[in-house]
Amino acid sequence: MNNRTISHIIEPQLVIEGAGVLLRRSIGPRASNEYDPFLLFDHFAFNNPLEGPIRGFPMHPHRGIETVTYMLDGSVNHRDSLGNTDMIGPGDVQWMTSGRGILHEEMPRRSESSGNIYGFQLWVNLPAAQKMNPPRYRGVKSSTIPVIEKEGASIRLVAGELDETRGPVTEIAASPLYMDVKLAPASRFIYPIPSGHTALAYVFDGAGEFAGEAVESVSMVVFQNNGDQIKVRSDAAGRGVRFMLIAGAPFKEPVVPYGPFVMNTVEEIQQAILDLRNGTFVK
Ligand code: CO
Repeated sequence: MNNRTISHIIEPQLVIEGAGVLLRRSIGPRASNEYDPFLLFDHFAFNNPLEGPIRGFPMHPHRGIETVTYMLDGSVNHRDSLGNTDMIGPGDVQWMTSGRGILHEEMPRRSESSGNIYGFQLWVNLPAAQKMNPPRYRGVKSSTIPVIEKEGASIRLVAGELDETRGPVTEIAASPLYMDVKLAPASRFIYPIPSGHTALAYVFDGAGEFAGEAVESVSMVVFQNNGDQIKVRSDAAGRGVRFMLIAGAPFKEPVVPYGPFVMNTVEEIQQAILDLRNGTFVK
């Protein structure tokens, strides 16, 4: 096995989205498509009462992508044009495949006990052949996400495989790996990722050694594409490290992002805007 090295480390930038939601963004949709098949990674954390009233994401469209919401604290109330209403609570995941079109509303709420809201949203691209498929919604409750305890690591497996266990989210075009890894102090975590697949680690608590380099939270580690395993270590001092491990097979197709739409050509973006205007976006 060849260990992957780090390509670069991204420091998340504060951005404002939706009706005025403050987020930490590590990656955003771009034509350069550097993190193919992943388009966006946002971290929302409202832990400061001085931030004022909680604003959310009122009804808005998506086409051509999958949006994945993972909550750690607080919740998000969801409503969509398929008729789903759902609450994404701590530990829950919502995997929404927009396909040709969906309208949804995402409204965060503080936890009643801690007063916090803490979670992530990942956008996964769809291949050209699936961008216009019917939308699909999957709400995954915390209790159905397997937790694997292994040599100082506690892993919540959302999508992908670990040893004999499979995450509950399957049949996704990018065959993604999405897991929440908590390493106790003085532990080691080694995980195989096929060479050529994009691999990212969003380090959101503590600090550790990723591919031999010291990394502190909060940062997004981008691994080199060659090599077939990643290695993480936490030292004996400190409180260990916690990160989201994200990996998937790139589609290597052209990408044209426009707000909540990500298509392959400018014409397809124009069509999405036209469909929205003509009321034919959602069938
Ligand atoms: Co959305």
